[in-house]
Amino acid sequence: SAADPGALRTPIVAVLGHVDHGKTTLLDRIRGSAVQEGEAGAITQHIGATAVPLETISDMAGSLVDPTDFDLPGLLFIDTPGHHSFSTLRSRGGALADIAVLVVDVNDGFQPQTEEAIDILKRTGTPFVVAANKVDTTPGWNPQEGEPIQRSLEKQSDRAENRLNENLYELIGDLSGKGFSADFYWRVQDFQSNIGVVPVSAMTGEGIPDLLTVLMGLSQRYMKAEMAVDVAGPGVGTVLEVKDERGFGATLDVVLYDGVVREGDTIVVGGRDDPIVTEVRALLQPRPNAEIRTEKRFERVDEVRAAAGVKIAAPDLDEAMSGAPVRVVRGDDVDAVKAEVRKELARIEVDTAEDGVVVKADTLGSLEAMANALEEAEVPILRAEVGDVAPRDVTVAQTANEEHHRVILGFNVDVLADAEEALERTGVRLFDDDVIYQLVEEYEEYVEELER
Ligand code: GTP
Ligand code: MG
Ligand code: NA
Repeated sequence: SAADPGALRTPIVAVLGHVDHGKTTLLDRIRGSAVQEGEAGAITQHIGATAVPLETISDMAGSLVDPTDFDLPGLLFIDTPGHHSFSTLRSRGGALADIAVLVVDVNDGFQPQTEEAIDILKRTGTPFVVAANKVDTTPGWNPQEGEPIQRSLEKQSDRAENRLNENLYELIGDLSGKGFSADFYWRVQDFQSNIGVVPVSAMTGEGIPDLLTVLMGLSQRYMKAEMAVDVAGPGVGTVLEVKDERGFGATLDVVLYDGVVREGDTIVVGGRDDPIVTEVRALLQPRPNAEIRTEKRFERVDEVRAAAGVKIAAPDLDEAMSGAPVRVVRGDDVDAVKAEVRKELARIEVDTAEDGVVVKADTLGSLEAMANALEEAEVPILRAEVGDVAPRDVTVAQTANEEHHRVILGFNVDVLADAEEALERTGVRLFDDDVIYQLVEEYEEYVEELER
């Protein structure tokens, strides 16, 4: 349990890869959920977190895993968005993680965001395995629901197996081109110097027992020393989302990646103006195997130990920003922790220009992603902020010199009633969407129309 002194820290496993290669579906398969089906545009927009206990892992892995071999409490999976604009979110995902699963569609092979994910893993020195996903789409495949991959391969025709192997060898070649020596995972002895490739299907569950076994082995063998360090220190985390909860007001969904947070602790959180100092009123933990992004029922607990997804209820969180750091103050003085949080925030600021568009987004991560997408499209930004569209945003947009800059681009945000009025009165155009590339495309089409 979380209160165990000397307990090992739960390893954080980031799931990375190109858009639609099956990251969320893979996690759905492991936790027995259907998060992917509820996503806008079938695209993951925000980082998620799911604690999968050792029991679930050993149930799924069946004969491949002996739970008595492991003393890790389980794995905390971090789902990340694959769309190309989310490089900064992924980078933080990569940096947060102890190990990673790089999901690659076996038919599609290496794609730009696969390469980008590899660059992030290389830069952060994160050990990883490759899940070669969608093996069930191999022509002539004979699906073997939930079976280990070797057992499934025994049931395939030579033709199907050869087709799959061609794709897998191509993948191994591409990894080698990136400077990694890789092989089928069952041939890998040392997972630190060689990348194991695990053929899987998120759809049929084939190969999932193997993937979980490799992840447990990798964490257990190479991470144990790290996992035992600093589990009882002051908690450190990242805000995934700020959400209103009935009876609590604004709350934080947090990935706690280090230390412990307790009810009554003083915490410092990145806010829209200055860091917020407040006191933890309640800690709400998602059920095991639940995605914190979609969880409805939380359990109230006295303390939470890293790594974990946790909802923190505290006063004065309205101005807290998604993507901001959160730190427990214990021993250190509040000002030192505030300074630390300010420093972390300064690293994620958006460049603005003299003239340009106004951008509003729901999280620091998506704001950064918007800024990257707009930079790529050569659209300058006058102001970029986290939050709903307010009348003052309209006032700022109105001051832009060029007509095509008198716009507000809103990603995943609401428009306040007064702002609707101001938009009508001033003729400032609002574009809003919950898929970034569509939002940018809509704006580009508008600019083209103006030029005609
Ligand atoms: P983003 O979050 O948008 O980057 O995508 P993702 O990597 O999470 O992929 P997602 O889980 O949304 O899956 C994309 C599509 O591939 C969905 O239609 C899934 O049903 C399908 N899919 C995922 N895994 C498999 C698989 O193993 N086999 C087959 N046949 N389809 C799969
Ligand atoms: Mg997804
Ligand atoms: Na998707």
